[in-house]
Amino acid sequence: MILSQLQSFKENSEKITCLTAYDASFAKLFDECGVDVILVGDSLGNVIQGSKNTLSVTMQDMIYHTQAAAKGVQNALLIADMPYQSYTNAEQTLKNAECLMSAGAHMIKFEGGSEYEASFKLLQANNIPVCGHLGLQPQSIVEMGGYKVQGKDEQSAQRILKDAKMLESWGVKTIVLECVPAKLASKISKAISIPTIGIGAGVGCDGQVLVSYDMLGINTGYLPKFVKNFLTGNDSIESAVNDYINSVKSQNFPNDEYSY
Ligand code: KIV
Repeated sequence: MILSQLQSFKENSEKITCLTAYDASFAKLFDECGVDVILVGDSLGNVIQGSKNTLSVTMQDMIYHTQAAAKGVQNALLIADMPYQSYTNAEQTLKNAECLMSAGAHMIKFEGGSEYEASFKLLQANNIPVCGHLGLQPQSIVEMGGYKVQGKDEQSAQRILKDAKMLESWGVKTIVLECVPAKLASKISKAISIPTIGIGAGVGCDGQVLVSYDMLGINTGYLPKFVKNFLTGNDSIESAVNDYINSVKSQNFPNDEYSY
């Protein structure tokens, strides 16, 4: 997918589908099913490495898995996560983002808002497409006091909305909104012209993402409210993925049962 197509989904009111993949086989399967965006998420720390959180994931891990996933992708847009401590200043962010682009990513993603102004601006100046990540930021799990819904009170809701607008003004191409009330995510999605991709953020986002292992019922650890097992009622991984695509495109997922 060329980058401008991502923007045209929003302009044409077509929902964007996104799943995580960490290797060539899953990336190829999702790509062939027609998933629009494939994310090499640092959630690989949980589902591949068996860690309790994403903090132990390294640049080396992300490069390895991005190289693998890139080999399976023909049509989808491939986004790679910047891991914990890999974007502590603008110069380091640029260097590490370039490594992920060289590994085959079409876009990089990192968690955080206005505090990363210099990094967003430097990446834009160097033509590296960026996906933002606001709301719950798993790499700040200690500071955030656990996996909690963000933006529930007026002050934090305003901060997330403001950050989304700032990111848009700094050239960010799309923003993942994680674990925010559906009403807030919908308001943000209307307030900015770039697409939002929600996870636990309701049907009002411009697209949806799930960790593939979660939506295939593979992850036996803690499952948040927003996770639906699409393999239930389907007899193959392909059918489950097609069900997910159809459910997102038709706005049947996520309904209230899977939102805050
Ligand atoms: O790492 C990841 O899989 C993510 C998604 C949860 C959006 O960032």
